[in-house]
Amino acid sequence: MRRTIWACLLIASFLALGWATASADLTAMEQLGKDLFFDSNLSTPAGVACAACHAPSTAFAGPVSELNQHGAVYPGAVHTRFGNRKPPTAAYTSFSPPFHFSEEDGLYEGGMFWDGRADDIVEQAKGPFLNPVEMNNPNMRHVVGKVLKSDYGMSFKEGYAAWILAQTPPGDMIPELTFDLSDDMFIENAYQYIAEAIAAYETSSEVNRFSSKYDAYLQGMATLTAEEAWGLELFEGKAMCANCHISEPDMDEGSPPLFTDYTYDNLGVPRNPENPWYTMPKGFNPQGEDWTDYGLGGRLGLADEMGKVKVPTLRNVAMKPYDGFVQAYTHNGYFKSLEDIVHFYNTRDVEMWPAPEVPMNVNSDELGNLGLSAAEEAALVAFMGTLTDGWMDGMAPGVTPATAVTPRLLLNSSPNPFHGATEIRFALPEAGRVTLSVFDVSGRRVRSLLAGDRLAGPQAVTWDATNDRGVQVAPGVYFFRMQTAQNHRVQRVVLLP
Ligand code: HEC
Ligand code: HEC
Repeated sequence: MRRTIWACLLIASFLALGWATASADLTAMEQLGKDLFFDSNLSTPAGVACAACHAPSTAFAGPVSELNQHGAVYPGAVHTRFGNRKPPTAAYTSFSPPFHFSEEDGLYEGGMFWDGRADDIVEQAKGPFLNPVEMNNPNMRHVVGKVLKSDYGMSFKEGYAAWILAQTPPGDMIPELTFDLSDDMFIENAYQYIAEAIAAYETSSEVNRFSSKYDAYLQGMATLTAEEAWGLELFEGKAMCANCHISEPDMDEGSPPLFTDYTYDNLGVPRNPENPWYTMPKGFNPQGEDWTDYGLGGRLGLADEMGKVKVPTLRNVAMKPYDGFVQAYTHNGYFKSLEDIVHFYNTRDVEMWPAPEVPMNVNSDELGNLGLSAAEEAALVAFMGTLTDGWMDGMAPGVTPATAVTPRLLLNSSPNPFHGATEIRFALPEAGRVTLSVFDVSGRRVRSLLAGDRLAGPQAVTWDATNDRGVQVAPGVYFFRMQTAQNHRVQRVVLLP
């Protein structure tokens, strides 16, 4: 029995690994990572995928304008539970080196999260599934079980088999392949593989597109406007932004600029009084309103690091899915626009700003009183607008390859074929307007089932064809058509007599 599983899986996996999927040139492992990243069934209760807080329409940061406008912290699978920080972008973050102390620079560098508490993206990806304020699963077994049962379960098994094989030194016995949920070794390996697949997706060129106007400019394929060019000059000169947000290609690595040096700093950002963490139950936040985010210093227990957080990339900071969308900036989302934060850098020490959240280690050498005019502030903002992906690959902001081919937008309806009523289930990777209608074979709309705004996550709508507003619908073939801003899906169903 086991032997047969091996044989089938290996043949399938060699085929799968050899081919990139047609949709967006992802390898099989990247595609699996993408399936995992967008699967809102991987939380308890179901409803919150990684993409709920890291959505393609906002370059893998938080996609809900109303949330950004206030606390800027996103609810987890249990909707009354919140974490304490704003989701940073999950794009361009795979370039961060592992967390370490650099003897050369005398500074902490690298790692994941605002406080660097995960070493790299693989370690990071293991966190959210089990975090009670995020995806809230009781244990790794639970997550692996859901993955095995998912509609990409087979590609998981194939990839896992190939991965185990690749890790077995030549000449060693190939371990027995089991998908036995009571086998601790399997669970541990499978969970590791899930994290590696997600990391592979986060490292893919679909997530890290390097397709902004600034990238084109660096390659001699675009000219900046006079204001953008002035902004760049200020960014690298008078405003000193490039001291931390590196704007030049990395000559050693040969990579385009990532707009961060992965160090940690305290800008003296005020606390965000609307952070929902302050009012979380004592079991989560024993300090209540008195809680302070000490960032890296809090994690390491080091006075010299108190209040410092990781320098984020500025790639895609200006990306907005639609006009009027509010983005939130810094670890607590205190700032609501680029104009706001640039004005803070410029005037923190000369105008009235609320006190810093953490008064220790506030950087006064590189910000606080830059002496920029209003026009210079505006030029800096204009320059940051050139960092939005999509300029070179011709895709509008918000329409990334990731949304163009969102997996499992329409899950299914069941039963199908059906008598009487059927339940249509689908998962929205992000909040937005949705319509769902029933059409007959001649293309006539029989019924509108849904038309309105929906939150991200799983949705269920029932179509009762026997008693649909008193009208009996004739047996036969029908189509459900669901439409979102970026995508549509059609499913064929059969209504039995
Ligand atoms: C409920 C919202 C939420 C969900 C769900 C969520 N994240 Fe996050 N993510 C955050 C927040 C908030 C942070 C920053 C937390 C901190 O610094 O303490 C973060 C940080 C990250 C980072 C670090 C980025 C950097 O530059 O340091 C990555 C990568 C990431 N998340 C990927 C994922 C993946 C993969 C999943 C799914 C397995 C996921 N997230 C699920 C909110 C979320
Ligand atoms: C001393 C290093 C340093 C300098 C200089 C610096 N920054 Fe930053 N920047 C940071 C850090 C650290 C953060 C995160 C702060 C936080 O979350 O509290 C940040 C955050 C930001 C953000 C928010 C990004 C996000 O995803 O939330 C923007 C925008 C930004 N900086 C733009 C600029 C501009 C424009 C300049 C020049 C006027 C500049 N920075 C100068 C270190 C720096």
